[in-house]
Amino acid sequence: MASFAFSDWRNRLLGSVRFRTLAQKIPVFHLFARAQANELFALCSGFIHSQILATCVRLDVFERLRNGPRDAASLAGELSLPADRAEHLFAAAAALELLECRPDRRIALGRHGAALLDNEAVLAMVRHHALLYDDLQRPLDLFRGSSDPTRMARLWTYAGASDGPPADVDAAREYSELMAVSQSMLAGQILDAVSLKSYRSLLDIGGGSGAFSMAAARRWPHIDVTLADLPAVADLARSAVLEAGLERRIDVCAADATSDPLPAGRDLVSLIRILHDHNDDRVMALLAAAHRALKPGGTLLVAEPMAGESRAGRLVDAYFHVYLLAMGSGRPRTPERLAELISEAGFRRVRRRRTQVPMITGVLLATR
Ligand SMILES: C[S@@+](CC[C@H](N)C(=O)[O-])C[C@H]1O[C@@H](n2cnc3c(N)ncnc32)[C@H](O)[C@@H]1O
Repeated sequence: MASFAFSDWRNRLLGSVRFRTLAQKIPVFHLFARAQANELFALCSGFIHSQILATCVRLDVFERLRNGPRDAASLAGELSLPADRAEHLFAAAAALELLECRPDRRIALGRHGAALLDNEAVLAMVRHHALLYDDLQRPLDLFRGSSDPTRMARLWTYAGASDGPPADVDAAREYSELMAVSQSMLAGQILDAVSLKSYRSLLDIGGGSGAFSMAAARRWPHIDVTLADLPAVADLARSAVLEAGLERRIDVCAADATSDPLPAGRDLVSLIRILHDHNDDRVMALLAAAHRALKPGGTLLVAEPMAGESRAGRLVDAYFHVYLLAMGSGRPRTPERLAELISEAGFRRVRRRRTQVPMITGVLLATR
């Protein structure tokens, strides 16, 4: 049983106004006090930071600075912002290292702004966050469950659907486009973490419009891939696979994986960014489907952002607890909790594979 004596002692100190005032005056202690105050202020103002970023993205500010620094007044004119108001945006974005305000009144990219160039995955997520931001306008309603249906739930139509996901073609197209763009952050990391050399067949359950299946098929030309997803998404996957000229390598199967039969006898079954979308009962149904689809000795591959005590794990926790709540089902899980569920579904030898950026995805393998 973990001891929380240190946390309790620290909280008693930090909770005391007298201690906080004193700490600011004591050498060395004042450094901790200052860091604590800064972190608290960053927490209070995080919503402003996201909106500065969102505004820069909506106005294509980073793209406009791709070729180098620009005169502040002419950039403001191009953004259709009055120069004095644009100055506030530029200065705020510079404070967040999205931009740089140079002494000669030119604006340049900051290090975060530069890292967003051609980073369609993150840019698409920033744009998509407008929906969640809307749902967060009344956070108490969201946590009480009285804000349904949220805008997020209207997009992610399968979330929380107990009697079969509804076939909303427009929503399926919108979320599949977002997934396809953001999959570019994951596929390489997953395929670097797990060699598919010894597998002949892969079934990608909930494979979306095929970004991961296509990346796997391209990297490992000997492997036969089948992608299974809900009918509205399967149609999109079929077109994407055809367009990529991979129709001989990738079969697409329209199925609700929790109730329809899936192709069986596979060496490898992947669940990429699937389990965190669902509550435990549906997770068990999906794992059972993966188990049935594998031949004995076959491998299950689970990849998704995973919660935990590390900095990455805590970022995942804070983000996905709210994201998935607004969406209508699921939760971020630690690798340990996922391993429990996977074992309960009849798999053995659950093991972890390291990824380059664990905040984007963790990877677990298990054997049928
Ligand atoms: C978050 S997306 C992930 C897509 C893809 N694996 C990726 O990482 O880009 C979840 C996918 O699971 C699919 N899905 C949800 N419920 C499903 C079910 N019961 N059967 C099959 N696919 C399902 C959705 O249509 C969606 O494409």
